[in-house]
Amino acid sequence: MPVLHVRGDATSEEPGGEVGPMGSSTRLAIVVLAAGAGTRMRSSTPKVLHPLAGLPLIAHVLDVAHALEPELVVTVVRHERDRVAEAVTQILPDCVIVDQDEIPGTGRAVEVGLTALPAGFAGTVVVLSGDVPLLEAEELRALVRAHHSAGNALTLLSAVRDDPAGFGRVVRDESGAFLRIVEERDASEQERALAEINAGVYVFDFAALAAALPALGTANAQGEKYLTDAAATIRSSGGRVDAVPVSDPWQVAGVNDRVQLSEVARELNARIVRRWQLAGVTVQDPATTWIDRNVSFGEDVTILPGSQVLGATTVASGAVIGPDTTLVDCEVGEGAVIKRSDAQLAVIGARATVGPFSYLRPGTELGEDGKIGAYVESKNARIAEGAKVPHLSYVGDVEIGPGSNIGAGTIVANYDGVSKHRSVVGAQVRIGSKTVLVSPVSVGDGAYTAAGAIIRKDVPPGALGMSVAAQRNVEGWTIEHRPDTPSAAAAQAAGDDADEESGD
Ligand code: UD1
Ligand code: CA
Repeated sequence: MPVLHVRGDATSEEPGGEVGPMGSSTRLAIVVLAAGAGTRMRSSTPKVLHPLAGLPLIAHVLDVAHALEPELVVTVVRHERDRVAEAVTQILPDCVIVDQDEIPGTGRAVEVGLTALPAGFAGTVVVLSGDVPLLEAEELRALVRAHHSAGNALTLLSAVRDDPAGFGRVVRDESGAFLRIVEERDASEQERALAEINAGVYVFDFAALAAALPALGTANAQGEKYLTDAAATIRSSGGRVDAVPVSDPWQVAGVNDRVQLSEVARELNARIVRRWQLAGVTVQDPATTWIDRNVSFGEDVTILPGSQVLGATTVASGAVIGPDTTLVDCEVGEGAVIKRSDAQLAVIGARATVGPFSYLRPGTELGEDGKIGAYVESKNARIAEGAKVPHLSYVGDVEIGPGSNIGAGTIVANYDGVSKHRSVVGAQVRIGSKTVLVSPVSVGDGAYTAAGAIIRKDVPPGALGMSVAAQRNVEGWTIEHRPDTPSAAAAQAAGDDADEESGD
């Protein structure tokens, strides 16, 4: 299987080949359920594709599945099957996609999922839900270990919640032994008061599961084949079933609506921020800092309030991000400083500075020690080392050579209304303030342009490009053409002073 980089941390995730006392000889398959309609999201996007920390919900689940190194991972799809299948294949190319038929329910989903297992499969089947994204591989590994050491036919994760509403409840006898799971809609008032819920994470013995599934009925409030009913079926045919309360309830938080999505997102973000703080990143305000899972930082990076570091952004050591900065899929070099700016698919060199208030669009490459100052928009712009675009400019489809300076208010007019054109500015060029470079045009090494120049023709190396007519002053214009205005009065007064000074 390919190596996934969706978790972005390198904590204690050793390869999970060994899953129990039977060691790696125990065969393991994982079935991920993702066929449901996700009605409570009220969305045209399938629930499991809603983004969480920069990845679809289901990517978090597939990552855990992958981390356990199973023989195969199967994802069951139905609602929006093409979109979900495409995303799953992109995330985990070896994942087997199985289509659920018109029979609804998690039990049916697992039943069709098992058809993808190789003939003669024997061993362990882990079932995960595509909408439970915070589960960690270590927790699941521990559950599989507990399953094997207890000799269970089914071991499921449970959680004790202050508010168990919406979940299936774990029903136990007076001695505390597991009896069954009852869905909320089918539960009695007494059962609804139970605080221990079914988390939707299961470890089955394959044979026990395969025997129980065909027996599932649909005589329940939702008319569905409930996987949860398999627990009682397995017990009644003599299999051991146990529910193990999870140590950290967040790990089994399900996302069924957008309120839960934001709660889970906030919690995951808090965990990601904390992990980076412990790895040497200063995060001044965790509450307003958002870091996606695939982001990585060097040591001594500082993140100031109101910043979002997203996608596959990498930030090298000593860089300062923020305040109020958004970076998406950017590469930031050592010691760079980016203040109150927005950048996407941009490369910012070591010790370069950006902002405040600039907008770096895809294809911006700012060299080492370079500068993009205030109120600059850039796109497909290669700005070499030590070059500067300090103020109020648009630089699009352009190459700017090392050490060059782009005067305030300069515009690279890259678009003729039909096509985009590219311009080239050489090394150590001085572009005068408010120059317009009408692309395609080139300005040679060491050349200058005059303030306000409109450059339509190439400027050779070392030349001064000018296009504005020489200045002409029309004496007395204000007093003649704008009489009785404050400007005319000021002009008159200046004239009187000049007369006095000249002794008239
Ligand atoms: C389920 C459990 C409930 C548990 C809760 C934990 C059942 C019957 N109930 O309820 O006991 O407390 O999870 O989060 O299992 N799915 C399919 N095919 C279907 C229906 C659902 O693949 O026909 C998938 C969904 O896409 C989802 C998962 O199964 O990923 C769970 O389905 P959902 O409808 O969210 O179940 P819950 O009501 O949350
Ligand atoms: Ca759910």
